[in-house]
Amino acid sequence: MNPLTEWLALLQKSVEAGLFVKMTLGHPTGGPDAPRKLLFKPVTIKGRLCCSVVSRYERRDVTKNYDFPEVLRDVAQKLGGEFLSAHLVTQTEEAQLELGRKPRLKVIPQTHAPAALEHDRAPIRWVDANAAYLKALEVTDARGRVRERMGDKFRQIERFVDLLASAYKESAGAGHGGPFTFCDMGCGKGYLTFAAYDYFRRVEKLAVEATGVETRPDLVGLCNRVAGECGMEGLRFVASNIAEYAVAPGLDCLIALHACNTATDDALFAGITAGARIILTAPCCHKELRPQVDAARQAGPLEDLLRHGLFAERHAEMATDALRALLLEREGYRVRVGEFVSLEHTAKNVMLIATRRETPLAPAAVADLDRRIARLKAFYGIEHQFLETLLLGRRELERPAAASGAVP
Ligand SMILES: C[S@@+](CC[C@H](N)C(=O)[O-])C[C@H]1O[C@@H](n2cnc3c(N)ncnc32)[C@H](O)[C@@H]1O
Repeated sequence: MNPLTEWLALLQKSVEAGLFVKMTLGHPTGGPDAPRKLLFKPVTIKGRLCCSVVSRYERRDVTKNYDFPEVLRDVAQKLGGEFLSAHLVTQTEEAQLELGRKPRLKVIPQTHAPAALEHDRAPIRWVDANAAYLKALEVTDARGRVRERMGDKFRQIERFVDLLASAYKESAGAGHGGPFTFCDMGCGKGYLTFAAYDYFRRVEKLAVEATGVETRPDLVGLCNRVAGECGMEGLRFVASNIAEYAVAPGLDCLIALHACNTATDDALFAGITAGARIILTAPCCHKELRPQVDAARQAGPLEDLLRHGLFAERHAEMATDALRALLLEREGYRVRVGEFVSLEHTAKNVMLIATRRETPLAPAAVADLDRRIARLKAFYGIEHQFLETLLLGRRELERPAAASGAVP
């Protein structure tokens, strides 16, 4: 093998093994306008491993990022033409290539620390692929590269943090001066709980107190261990049913992502009752309304539409979430419906993004919302929806005290 081929093989092997630290191409053959040196180092951009290439000219540097396969092809073309020397640094060795009259390759075993994968020009990434929690949850590997088969999960986390950040920015008021509190209902393995904590703490620089609520004790144990190992102070996970978990009043943010069926209603109710400033839910497995919608199809203009199971399913889902949105609005929230990327739940990628208004709704606005809720229910033949049932129950409990003027 000639020295150039051998050096290129070492380069390729170091990239494939994740051992590449940096390299330089030097000894240029071009004129004064050509770059004097090319400097290469790995960076992560949106969680993807890329190569940052600095072209060093006489008086300026130009930096661009490329995928590694492109870089390997380009380096192979340039060596022996535009540049006659190359220096490769990996975690285990250094390899110096000289392509003069008598090409030479010198390889010296030498230990180097892994490259720091920060992106030089990125301000602060909302989801840092290098974060310890992503490594502990096996979303990324030890070098901060998104693992094979975890790409969808990583994109879901990024999309979630995007939506969370936009809700945080539009939520009124700067808070109450204490730590920012949030609760993740039905948190599962905690991917989004950790991401939300990291966003509020690292990007928004808030003191954070957060709780993940989950019925499965094994997941709760795993999440508490990861939070401890990653030094995520103020983040804890508890084994509880959402409906039974008492959220302290004055909560800043509640999230519930893919909590099944009416567990989403329990979560919304908990958030509303605690006066959460932000409520983010991605509902899942809408079972409650389907039988009611089916019963209503016996007659009427929707009969031919609802006789198809798939259409009936989608109508029931949309009616459920539209009602939830109206009920949130009636409770004083602004509501947007966004799309939450999730390839595992392709049809279930809706997110309700609610932010609390600073001032209560006028009675006329409440009456208008009551009318619209009743109209939607009547259209689909809906008799009950669980969030509405919970809110009506609470109103019933509040009524006698308000009517008698009793002090609680
Ligand atoms: C589909 S997973 C979603 C996990 C996580 N929120 C996410 O999006 O990655 C739903 C999780 O909610 C939990 N869960 C479902 N119903 C619940 C309830 N009523 N109370 C607490 N946890 C619940 C399940 O055990 C499961 O871990």
